[in-house]
Amino acid sequence: MHHASFTLDPAFTVAPVNRRTFGGFVEHLGRCVYTGIYEPDHPTADADGFRRDVLDLTRELGVTTVRYPGGNFVSGYRWEDGVGPRDRRPVRRDLAWHSTETNEVGLDEFMRWSAKAGVEPMMAVNLGTRGVAEALDLLEYANHPKGTLLSDRRAANGTAEPHGITMWCLGNEMDGPWQVGHTTAREYGRLAGQTARAMRMAQPGLELVACGSSGSAMATFGAWEAGVLAECYDAVDAISLHAYYEEHDGDLASFLASGADMDRSIDAVTATADAVGARLGDRKRIRLSFDEWNVWYQSRHRAAAPREDWPTAPRLLEDHYHLADAVVVGGLLIALLRHSDRVTAACQAQLVNVIAPIMTEPGGRAWRQTVFHPFAETARAAKGEVLRVEPVAPVHPTARHGDVPVIDAVATRDAASGAAAVFVLNRSVDTAVALDVDVRGLGAERLVRCATLADADVYAVNTADEPDRVAPAANRTAELADGRLRAVLPPVSWTVVELATA
Ligand code: AHR
Repeated sequence: MHHASFTLDPAFTVAPVNRRTFGGFVEHLGRCVYTGIYEPDHPTADADGFRRDVLDLTRELGVTTVRYPGGNFVSGYRWEDGVGPRDRRPVRRDLAWHSTETNEVGLDEFMRWSAKAGVEPMMAVNLGTRGVAEALDLLEYANHPKGTLLSDRRAANGTAEPHGITMWCLGNEMDGPWQVGHTTAREYGRLAGQTARAMRMAQPGLELVACGSSGSAMATFGAWEAGVLAECYDAVDAISLHAYYEEHDGDLASFLASGADMDRSIDAVTATADAVGARLGDRKRIRLSFDEWNVWYQSRHRAAAPREDWPTAPRLLEDHYHLADAVVVGGLLIALLRHSDRVTAACQAQLVNVIAPIMTEPGGRAWRQTVFHPFAETARAAKGEVLRVEPVAPVHPTARHGDVPVIDAVATRDAASGAAAVFVLNRSVDTAVALDVDVRGLGAERLVRCATLADADVYAVNTADEPDRVAPAANRTAELADGRLRAVLPPVSWTVVELATA
């Protein structure tokens, strides 16, 4: 048994919990849209063709914002194809995923789905094959109240009120050689800056996100962000980060420490952005939008494998997540929350079927993957302010991320209600941890709940036939006495503890 401890104190506040930390992502990729959120022939379909079972799970997941429509897809997308009468919408090739796009679902349908799901949209514009003019057209169609060509077209298409979309991504992963329209940092930064300035002329107050690197392993990581921001620092509010993790060659210890890479990426991009700002004499602080993150096996293949055909809604990127994946996802959420002072938005990629917490069968059931649970629990319990945690714990070596403390943790506290939550990862592959937390500073008097995600088989998965094989269970070792919270955390586990003042 290892022993670990830390102290929670409201004096060590990081920042408020940003609700946008709990974002998701719907891309026209594989079965995310078609037979994912939308399947008009499904027994649960509503009048708009949306699967009610998926809407229910989306609400249960607690997703707050959803990025749309890509992803790589957006870099070749013409938004006009997806609006207006369905029988007149063109069928197109999607080069990113070598698929056929029917355009049955487009902007107006997605906005209807978002309203039903209770999520804020985060819209991406195409800066791969298109530019300033098309971004302005899309903005006019989406947000202008009425009386112009495109706002009147929206009304004629059935949506009189403007969609009111605030948050916009300026393209996607333009550093990636797989991207349609892939270019240099300076060229992309110039285009992003021009697009952002024009969009602001049309509508002040938008929140605009420039594309950072596709991942910290990119050879241009750092230089890309510096080059992009040198061109558009004044015009954007945030820069994006993307990161996908997987277990390599059975190295579970490194995999469980993936949050350490996320920490370093965030710190590196923050430092780069601040250095550019200082050089430009701009005192504004660029925010970070971690708008793609998850576990993804084979994430080094960022585009469709070569194929002859152009299938519609093929099964692509349908990872089946096991217990250890869910523990890693819990750890990545800890890393995101820890950086709430700079990371003000994040999107787990993606929402349904495609590397997703929710899986569906066409015509069949929808179920929660293992990674659903830490996301839903964190989104529900994290409230108020994020508190810094400095664990005193044994340090263990990992091949990919160096030495890491055996536990990782973060906490939140809502000053108004006194409710507090602690999220803890035991990243040891074989040893339980006896945890001892000094919570006197919180005034916590009652242990409301302690639930742990663990399993004797760290590779156990949930399936359509056994959808609840992996789920959090009450941790009966937890106790709160004399201002100390104590619990035993099994190896390879993620735990949430909720406390109250009375
Ligand atoms: O989320 C899957 C893909 O990963 C996205 O389309 C792209 O942005 C990233 O490479």
